[in-house]
Amino acid sequence: MKNFEANRISKIETSIFTKISQLAIKHKAINLGQGFPDFDGPDWIMEEAFKAMKSGKNQYAPANGVLSFRKEISDVYKKFYSLDINADEEITVTAGATEALYSTFNAFFQEGDELILFEPYYDGYFANAILCGANPKFISLRKPDFTFDFYELEANITEKTKAIILNNPHNPTGKVWTLEELHWIAKLAKRYNLLVISDEVYEFLTFDGVSHIPIASLPEMKERTITISSMGKTFGMTGWKIGYAVAPANLTAPIQKVHQWTTFAVNTPGQHAMAHALNQLDEYLPIFRKTYEEKRDYVLSELKSSNFKAHLPKASYFIMLDIPKEKNINDLECATELIEKNGIATIPSSAFYSKSDEGKGMLRLCFAKKDEILRAGIEKLKNY
Ligand SMILES: Cc1ncc(COP(=O)(O)O)c(C=O)c1O
Repeated sequence: MKNFEANRISKIETSIFTKISQLAIKHKAINLGQGFPDFDGPDWIMEEAFKAMKSGKNQYAPANGVLSFRKEISDVYKKFYSLDINADEEITVTAGATEALYSTFNAFFQEGDELILFEPYYDGYFANAILCGANPKFISLRKPDFTFDFYELEANITEKTKAIILNNPHNPTGKVWTLEELHWIAKLAKRYNLLVISDEVYEFLTFDGVSHIPIASLPEMKERTITISSMGKTFGMTGWKIGYAVAPANLTAPIQKVHQWTTFAVNTPGQHAMAHALNQLDEYLPIFRKTYEEKRDYVLSELKSSNFKAHLPKASYFIMLDIPKEKNINDLECATELIEKNGIATIPSSAFYSKSDEGKGMLRLCFAKKDEILRAGIEKLKNY
């Protein structure tokens, strides 16, 4: 049979998450690899969606999103970040952050363009770059702080570079970028006239009293930044697939050109419910953060008596673990052994790297799991 697959997608492989999950099912392993909660989001948000459905909010939403939802998003930016966002011209509601990324990448990148990607990276950036024919240049975030070298970053910017991709807070390390790091990135974006695509899906999942700073809030950065977020992450309801892209009107227009032929509009009752949910952030966020912070602290304290060294995450629901050196084993071998012999699944970190070998010495664990699942999973890790 002829190979019908388009050449440009030949570099996109079945994700490691699918492979690990399949192996976990085969060996009945506890899955601390999958990066989403195994518990439900708030009931009161579901009730709002149901109310919206019952009151006739079931037809197509406006392509850029339900107005009340866009207004709430704009209010959140004002209240939390002192940013003025025009609800009519600067917001696009998308089918999750995934579609916001897809529409953004396709709006701005074409064959031969270059973009800067910090590694370890959320694998969606790499796939989107490939789909557009753009070439990522990788800058490695180095342990223990997962920071980067300003001069290395500058040296990788060429005439073809169009954008820096930022993920703050960061998946998989849980890093919250310092103000100083954000200023470095902003300085280079302005010096070389680059866009910044800033994926901030974990903006509200910060710990230890740390506050998130959107790079768009730095001087003269709003005009060159596309900020992406996800209601699925903020409210622990990833299956609803509601996200958005915030960008100045001249950058929002190209994003909406792609969006109108990708999903056109996002489910209507869900947007009404999320408008209500955003309005309740003050009451919701302390509970949300406490729930996850307790899970993080439990895992960190238990892992002290294991052979794995954990890197403290300041945000997100991920923890990076160093594989014990004495084992002389790489991440894929270790993750496979853990599933097959110990009954516990994690993600081998080399999946998040293209340049550095550092990922071969680490695993990613997701702690957005029910307490009893975490307890059982961590016991199995401690037995390794
Ligand atoms: C950094 C990052 N960006 C984007 C996404 C996708 O978000 P959504 O589920 O809203 O499409 C994820 C999901 O894991 C993520 O971790």
